[in-house]
Amino acid sequence: MNYDREGLIAAAKEAMMKAYAPYSNFYVGAAFLMEDGRIYTGCNIENASYGAANCAERTAIFKAISEGRRDFKALALCGGPKGEVGIPCSPCGICRQVLREFCKQDMEVVIAHKDGYETTTVAELLPMSFSLEDW
Ligand code: THU
Repeated sequence: MNYDREGLIAAAKEAMMKAYAPYSNFYVGAAFLMEDGRIYTGCNIENASYGAANCAERTAIFKAISEGRRDFKALALCGGPKGEVGIPCSPCGICRQVLREFCKQDMEVVIAHKDGYETTTVAELLPMSFSLEDW
């Protein structure tokens, strides 16, 4: 796919540094590229009531959806303890289901790691997924 992957990863890394994660000290950043080139970013936001935490992916996607956007083209992710990106930070199950709701099944998901990045798709992240579109 033809877009600036490195630029999208850089946006995810910048967002990651805004994480509010005093409980886990695990910082995550997400950056969605839209069809017109705009980027929506998000970070994880934790809470003293732990269950109220929001993941970076959902922060970013809810920002876009709430501004009327649905034209997601790609997603870049990164994360690690205190923002040190090591192994790939793969999206959690809840975020995978949210991606399934709003993104094309073949949308590229780029996961940065210390030596570069790997790519996958929404469908690969959540096989045999549940969607009311199928009924
Ligand atoms: N986290 C994310 O932001 N995205 C994921 O997909 C995995 C987990 C956050 C939630 C929590 O603030 C911290 O990482 C540790 O679980």
